[in-house]
Amino acid sequence: AVYREITTDLLNWYQRHARILPWRTEAQQNKVDPYRVWLSEIMLQQTTTAHAAPYYLKFVERWPTVEALAAAQEADVMAEWAGLGYYSRARNLIKCAKEVVASGGKFPDNEQGLLALPGIGRYTAAAIVAIAFGKRAVVVDANVERVVSRLFAIETPLPASRPIIAEETDKLTPDSAAGDFAQAMMDIGATICVNRQPTCAICPMMPHCEGQKTGNPAVFPIKAPK
Ligand code: ADE
Repeated sequence: AVYREITTDLLNWYQRHARILPWRTEAQQNKVDPYRVWLSEIMLQQTTTAHAAPYYLKFVERWPTVEALAAAQEADVMAEWAGLGYYSRARNLIKCAKEVVASGGKFPDNEQGLLALPGIGRYTAAAIVAIAFGKRAVVVDANVERVVSRLFAIETPLPASRPIIAEETDKLTPDSAAGDFAQAMMDIGATICVNRQPTCAICPMMPHCEGQKTGNPAVFPIKAPK
């Protein structure tokens, strides 16, 4: 029904307009490596793509595999991480690499297994399953929350609306290309459906957007009264 049209329009847009990011270029060359997807997604927690990209490139050059990272000196990893902030992420990064290597060197290909690892929460687990393993997973981050709140003009404020957002995102998520779908939603949220002044005129989902139809899409997600 209409969900499928929205998803198709979004995926077609992504084919032409995906932001060029180092971890994506590898994916387009069919060189998807769960280690690299994991590393990029940890860096992208609380950090913009533009800020994370050079760090990502330094890390994969210096530690090209999870084995290499697991064997690194903690002080060296912390030094390379300097500037990214939220240093618990770097400490968990090392712990996680060691755990993956200790259990055979492969990242789990399912959310349950990934969630058991240090530093991997629900968002990151779903993102890795979809992007690294090409399996269907419902990926919701803050950008997706905003886009979906607007698309469906969800009247319930955050955080109470989270179950509704998860359900709508689930309905939109395709069986194949869940990773492209998730990254397309993130690109829309980061570049078009931005916080204050969304540029609806260039949004591939505008014809379907209930928030746009209200005339004031930026009020979504509704702020809870204080
Ligand atoms: N933010 C978090 N993960 C991302 C990704 N894979 N692409 C773009 N932005 C992101």
